[in-house]
Order: sequence, then structure tokens, then C-alpha cells
Amino acid sequence: MILVTGAGGNVGRAVAALLPDARPLDRRSGADLARPDTLTEALQDVETVFLIWPFLTSDGAGATLAKIAEHARRVVYLSSSAVRFGADTDPITRLHADLEAAVRGSGLDWTILRADTFASNALGWAGQLRAGDTVRGPDSAATAVIDPADVAASAVRLLTDPRPGTTQTVTGPEVLARADQVAILGAALGRQLTFEPTPYDEARAQLTADGRPAALVEALIGSAERRPRSDLITTTVQDLTGRPARGFRAWADRNAAFFS
Ligand SMILES: NC(=O)c1ccc[n+]([C@@H]2O[C@H](COP(=O)([O-])OP(=O)(O)OC[C@H]3O[C@@H](n4cnc5c(N)ncnc54)[C@H](OP(=O)(O)O)[C@@H]3O)[C@@H](O)[C@H]2O)c1
Repeated sequence: MILVTGAGGNVGRAVAALLPDARPLDRRSGADLARPDTLTEALQDVETVFLIWPFLTSDGAGATLAKIAEHARRVVYLSSSAVRFGADTDPITRLHADLEAAVRGSGLDWTILRADTFASNALGWAGQLRAGDTVRGPDSAATAVIDPADVAASAVRLLTDPRPGTTQTVTGPEVLARADQVAILGAALGRQLTFEPTPYDEARAQLTADGRPAALVEALIGSAERRPRSDLITTTVQDLTGRPARGFRAWADRNAAFFS
């Protein structure tokens, strides 16, 4: 049995769809990754856990992993490709580096799947794009944005064909700045869209107005300020899934309805 955490989210939902026999972690039944004692039932007969850590602090991760290790043998943890820049780069990178260390020290057979920035982060622009043709926000450095469906397909390969003790880094096929993403999204929507980089104070207000909680806003501003451009493009999606990584345009085409 494979337990899929985050099964309502961008990646976990796609993992669960590709693995119909797997068990999605159902929060409606009271299961909470931050409260290990609530996970006992979900972990019954589980051999492998697909783990996402949806919090902004690593506090409690050790206890949750200890609980998983009481039942399961293996874990595939979804991390961030930014960890290669060093844990001190920004708070979100620190979080993923800390989780990786906890996973490696958990006693479980581990595989770490480091993913580049998700294409689905663009969903956060939906409010602005329903109201107009301009996206305002912090000008985060360019990176090889990845389709969460490709992250999920890569994860499924690692869950079903284990490569224990390895760290796999998946990226999209092209390095895109925020302005590039907005232009590509515009082409998919049949609209002329513009990206307007904003100073961090203004960006903070915009991210808050877009509906993000305060701690997440600070973490995103920290990443925008401090994370460097990434030119890394790997063939890992192709190696793991047999298909090349999809571009941002394909993701935008599939999700166009969300923006109007
Ligand atoms: N975004 C990026 O660019 C990026 C890049 C690299 C790595 N990552 C990593 O990928 C992870 C998954 O991203 P995503 O976009 O798929 O996530 P997401 O869409 O934000 O979904 C988060 C999931 O976590 C679940 N969740 C929230 N609180 C929980 C709790 N207390 N106990 C159990 N489950 C809980 C949610 O459940 P409900 O559906 O019930 O609310 C949801 O299914 C992130 O956490 C991050 O560590 C992200």
C-alpha cells in the first residue's frame, strides 16, 4: 500500500490519480500531518509514503517521520531544487533542506524528489487576471518552471520502482522569467498580458491581497529577494517517465479556464 499525502493538492492529486490503488491521506477523517497520533489508521498496512510537508516550519517533522517509520518502510519526499543553492538561501529553501535532513535521518528507505518551481504557482495570479490584464508581484528570478503533472509522474515512478538513497532533481524544459510566464499565459488565454514587477513593500501588499497568509507572504518575499536565477535543466522527467518535461504553455492551455 502506498499512502499519498497532500492528495488534494497540485502534485498529490495527480499522484493519486495515477495510482488508483493508493490511499490518499484524507484530512476529513481527522488525519493531520502535524499531529502524528492522528495518522495511525491511515498508516495501516502502508509500505511506502509519498510525503509532502505543507507547513512553513520543520517543527514536528521528526515526530511525524518517526510515526511513519513505525508502520512503513519507505518514503519519497517532495523537496525543492533550490536546496542545491544552500539551506541559508531563503526561508523556503531552509525548510526543504531541514526536511531532507529529517527524512535522511528517519531510518526509512528514502528517496528525495527535488522539483523546480511549479507552473501551478501561477494560479495565484488568477484574482488579478480576472480583474485585468496586468500581473503585479515580486520579480522572482528566472527558473525552469515545471508542470506539477510531470512532478507527479516522476514521483509515481519513484514510488513504484524504488531508487532508495538517491536525490532526483526534476525541472521544466526552459528557463522562464516571471514576464515570460505571464506572456505565455496570455497567449494561452488569447489576451495581451503584462507583468509589472513591484518593489517588495508593494509586492507584500499584493500577495496579501491575493489571499495568501502572512507567514507565506514573508517566505515568498524572502525567496524573491534572495534566491538566484537557476539555469539548471535536467532530463530527469524523461529518464523517470519516458516522456520529455512539458512546457509552461501546455500547463497554461490545460488551466486557461481558471483565469477567466
Ligand atoms: N510550489 C512550488 O513551486 C514547489 C516547488 C518545489 C517543491 N514544492 C513542495 O511541494 C509541496 C506540495 O505542493 P502542492 O502545490 O502540491 O501543494 P498544495 O496544492 O498547496 O496542497 C497542499 C496539500 O497539503 C494538504 N495539507 C495541508 N495541511 C495539512 C495537514 N495539516 N495535514 C495533512 N495535509 C495537509 C492539503 O490538504 P487539503 O487538500 O485537504 O487542504 C493539500 O492537499 C509543497 O508543500 C512544497 O514543499 C513546491
